[in-house]
Amino acid sequence: MTALSVRGLTHAYAGTPVLRAVDLDVQPGQVVAVVGPSGAGKTTLFRCLTRLVRADAGVLEVFGADLQQLEGSALRDARRELGLVFQSYNLVRRLSALQNVLVGRLADVPAWRVVLRRFPVAEQDLAARCLDQVGLLAFAHTRADRLSGGQQQRVAIARVLASRARVVLADEPVASLDPASASAVLAALRSLATDHGKAVVCSLHQVDLVAGFADRVVGLRDGRVVLDLPADRFDAATARDLYSRTPERTSA
Ligand SMILES: Nc1ncnc2c1ncn2[C@@H]1O[C@H](COP(=O)(O)OP(=O)(O)OP(=O)(O)O)[C@@H](O)[C@H]1O
Ligand SMILES: [Mg+2]
Repeated sequence: MTALSVRGLTHAYAGTPVLRAVDLDVQPGQVVAVVGPSGAGKTTLFRCLTRLVRADAGVLEVFGADLQQLEGSALRDARRELGLVFQSYNLVRRLSALQNVLVGRLADVPAWRVVLRRFPVAEQDLAARCLDQVGLLAFAHTRADRLSGGQQQRVAIARVLASRARVVLADEPVASLDPASASAVLAALRSLATDHGKAVVCSLHQVDLVAGFADRVVGLRDGRVVLDLPADRFDAATARDLYSRTPERTSA
């Protein structure tokens, strides 16, 4: 079954179209990179996918459940399928790395409960194993706000790993990282797909990283999907073309 299926997703902010009939399919175990110039609509797409923003039209299915149609507890249930690794929607700063991973086990429970509640040993073992898998076991008891940006993103990935999410949405997870941290984060995301069968959708500005990371690449420009290719066919010329201004604008 397709993990994430988007059909005709359309959204406007105050009458200005931002997403124009976007289609996107992601399979379990697959990594799709979303690329495109600033303002193309990547973040808006992610916000619609999480229903932080409700799209104006289109179908948005997560393992067959149409997120656009759900409300209340059915929506909360469907959302648990989604793991988020966003640039600025991430960890609870004052909790340790381990506690942040445990938050992923309690999708709908306020974070303060994590501090007060005594977790069963099995839960703590699982969280520790997930931190180990992203190479951060040694930082289990370090407060999140004392970790580097790249380490914080890897804790967020460990949290997804510990949760029951089968679709991972990562909006520019490596935007402000140095090359070594960026590749560690992308490797951890890749492993969510390869080793754990999750479907991963990740936006990136570093187009040179796409081929080594993703299976497919989807290019957005002006709210439209203008390319959808196997990642190894996304070469420098294709990237330049995507990021160049549209012919209509340059000739206007
Ligand atoms: N809350 C909002 N209200 C009104 N317009 C918005 C809002 N958020 C985004 N936009 C507009 O929607 C368009 C798409 O923005 P979006 O943030 O989705 O682009 P992006 O592809 O993520 O860009 P970047 O690469 O810079 O992150 C832009 O023109 C932006 O100005
Ligand atoms: Mg963005």
